[in-house]
Amino acid sequence: MRLVLVGPPGAGKGTQAEFIAANQSVPKISTGDIFRANVGQGTPLGLQAKKYMDAGQLVPDEVTIDMVRDRLAEPDAADGFLLDGFPRTVPQAKVLDEMLAELGTALDVVLELVVDNDEVIRRLSGRRTCRGCGKIWHVEFDATERDGVCDRCGGELFQRDDDKPETIAERLRVYADQTAPLVDYYGGQGKLVGIDATGPVEDVTQRATDALDPFGG
Ligand code: AP5
Repeated sequence: MRLVLVGPPGAGKGTQAEFIAANQSVPKISTGDIFRANVGQGTPLGLQAKKYMDAGQLVPDEVTIDMVRDRLAEPDAADGFLLDGFPRTVPQAKVLDEMLAELGTALDVVLELVVDNDEVIRRLSGRRTCRGCGKIWHVEFDATERDGVCDRCGGELFQRDDDKPETIAERLRVYADQTAPLVDYYGGQGKLVGIDATGPVEDVTQRATDALDPFGG
């Protein structure tokens, strides 16, 4: 299955991507995770991306598209993938369609996670991520047993730099302006399925599984 997850910051894309990718036996490709890994390693790509990420803005398409092209050329993505955080603009979506057409294939489905802005703010302000294994937690909705320590691997938890209130507001503005038009773009292709992404994580996973079923999921 070739699948894209779309939704505002904090909709739960990263949380659900882990379960969906495992269920579908496809690699999860998150552009945000790739950028953060590069920032952490201090690579030229990371240095370039960091100033945009910290401001809540999108990294320019020319940087992002080449990075995704390289990742999709890796052997594990040949038979399917889950993209989390890409495409994020209509130009990125058009290039993705062209890249896949060159490979003689196409996206199967785009899953939209629908949540309102108040819920996004609650989720992002309490998010914590493990430095060791990358597991996403929440101080209220999915808390670890010990403060600041990952239950899965014992790693240290951190708060993302872009989860500050003023940056969250900018990310929401950028989403509405630049990413939400993807809903019409993929709706026009008949590939969009939207699900209610509120409520317990397991319930959202079940809704996602049911929604993907007709697409061979
Ligand atoms: P990226 O990492 O993609 O950030 P995002 O889209 O803003 O999404 P988030 O990772 O913040 O949220 P999420 O939907 O994954 O939610 P999560 O599962 O963590 O991108 C970061 C930056 O990189 C961008 O701003 C941009 O600068 C750059 N970038 C990336 N891709 C790009 C591209 N294609 N082009 C240009 N620039 C790009 O959940 C959030 C919290 O809620 C967690 O604490 C979680 O535990 C909790 N939670 C999840 N589900 C539930 C639930 N059902 N109930 C209660 N709590 C829940």
